[in-house]
Amino acid sequence: MDLRLAKRTQQIAPFYVMELLHRAKQLEAQGKDVIHMEIGEPDFPTPQTIINAGTRHLKTGAVKYTAAAGLPELREKIADFYRQRYAVTIDAARIFVTPGASGAFLLALGSSLNPGQELLMADPCYPCNSNFVKLFDGKARTIPVDATTGYQLTAAQIKQHWTPNTQGALIASPSNPTGTLIAPDQLAQAIHTVNDLGGCFYSDEIYHGLVYGDDATTALAFSDNVFVINSFSKYFGMTGWRIGWLIVPEAFIDATEKLAQNLFISTATPSQYGALAALDPLTLIELEHRRAEFATRRDFLYDGLVRLGFNIPIKPDGAFYIYADCAKFTDDSYQFALDLLEAEGVAITPGKDFGTHAAHHYLRFAYTTSIDRMAIALQRLERFIDKQK
Ligand SMILES: Cc1ncc(COP(=O)(O)O)c(C=O)c1O
Repeated sequence: MDLRLAKRTQQIAPFYVMELLHRAKQLEAQGKDVIHMEIGEPDFPTPQTIINAGTRHLKTGAVKYTAAAGLPELREKIADFYRQRYAVTIDAARIFVTPGASGAFLLALGSSLNPGQELLMADPCYPCNSNFVKLFDGKARTIPVDATTGYQLTAAQIKQHWTPNTQGALIASPSNPTGTLIAPDQLAQAIHTVNDLGGCFYSDEIYHGLVYGDDATTALAFSDNVFVINSFSKYFGMTGWRIGWLIVPEAFIDATEKLAQNLFISTATPSQYGALAALDPLTLIELEHRRAEFATRRDFLYDGLVRLGFNIPIKPDGAFYIYADCAKFTDDSYQFALDLLEAEGVAITPGKDFGTHAAHHYLRFAYTTSIDRMAIALQRLERFIDKQK
């Protein structure tokens, strides 16, 4: 049977953190207390306004397909959100409601990437995005980045690595796993470079709501010739509802529509009604409180990790991750994460889930748990490090 497996399945690596999660579950089943800092989703529940809107729709029983691109009123409301939050005007016809940012990226690549073409992206980066490129028989060309560029791709790197076979470049800001943001002028330069080279620019803006200093700037502020990927998962607290959106250049509307019809038919209808409420002012007020809580947690965890001796050259501005250099303690961050879980019941994600560049020297800590729990996690981490000396 194995012989029938598609070759592309061999190119896609599993998440190493799943092994940790599996072990964490076993330890919990044995009664051990595990503090989860490996998880990439908010610990807050979905806001009640969203739940009410979704269930109201479910109760009508008329839970049917919608148009492939999504409910027209939701697409209009997303366009309004861009006017209010970013002062940019987008024609709702360019907005596609999708099953998460994941669905958005599938549509974006499906309509713009040919087999064998390359897409430039940073290493470290969120691994699914490079795996999607492989799924379309493209090549994810990962470029090592470090603190000197805020762990983001630069226009100069894009130019340097561009070949006749390159189709485009992807930037995720704030980034997973580093939480760092690209500066607006750097983003503009990267977009203009890709446009001048005749390629497609993809901007993963899923963590945009979760920034703790300057606001994040959308790629749409600099060009209409970009694919913007976003989601209700993180800032809006709707991970399990599976809903996001994609904004495409005008020339891609028809092709994207065809793909959306064929790939998904439509995004889950109750989730679309829930998302309408997610963009209401009342919900946004609640989400802003949550953002403030994440900012406090970020400061707490950052200070704690620095005090223990982790090297974090840039205090991250967004998302809910800290990507910490642990070279002082180990040359094998994966083993460190496994041993820490076993000895102290703290679960974190090893760098090798995000690429190969210096991955053995990095760990990702997610502050998707309370300050009280993180305080205990830091005590346990300190004990673990002390015992290694
Ligand atoms: C950078 C980034 N992009 C996209 C996604 C996919 O999110 P979803 O499909 O839940 O919207 C994630 C999820 O962790 C992510 O971290």
